[in-house]
Amino acid sequence: MIADMPSREFSINLLDEYIESENLRDHCKMVAKAMEAYAGSLDKTDLEVDKWWTAGLLHDLDWEKFPDEHPNRAVNHILPPLGYPADVLHAIKAHAPERTGKSPESEIERYLFACDELAGFMNAVALMRPTGFSGMKVSSVRKKMKDKRFAANVPREDIEKGAELIEKELTDHIAFMIGIFENS
Ligand SMILES: [Fe+2]
Ligand SMILES: [Fe+2]
Repeated sequence: MIADMPSREFSINLLDEYIESENLRDHCKMVAKAMEAYAGSLDKTDLEVDKWWTAGLLHDLDWEKFPDEHPNRAVNHILPPLGYPADVLHAIKAHAPERTGKSPESEIERYLFACDELAGFMNAVALMRPTGFSGMKVSSVRKKMKDKRFAANVPREDIEKGAELIEKELTDHIAFMIGIFENS
């Protein structure tokens, strides 16, 4: 445990307590992994890396139990008394601007927004492939994005907007994410 942050183990237990769906837990862990990797690539301190990972892990904490209040329930009621820092709460809030009125501004907020929908979409692509993420090509992810019927629930404009927010070409963002998930 670093400084005043709840430990990773504590956060994993919290996730298990609130989420029964294996798929949703896996999604949360994927986003945590992506956030951790991006924080590392930006030379963040250990504490910051932990915060980025934690924001990724807990961003959908209340989705299963409180779908109508997501993510407000988590950021206003569940997480604050447990000692999660404000920047983690703000990032979770900003991953759903249409529900919270908070748009992604700080770095951790922008990266969480950028990783969330893309991770979900790429997981759908991986599930269609016999080898999962291994050998996945950026071009096939982009092709699937154009197929409106594929993973129709994932808003393509949020994926595009995410890449813009972190000032990356979408191609580079996808390639970075493949690199993470291929090796995990
Ligand atoms: Fe969400
Ligand atoms: Fe999510």
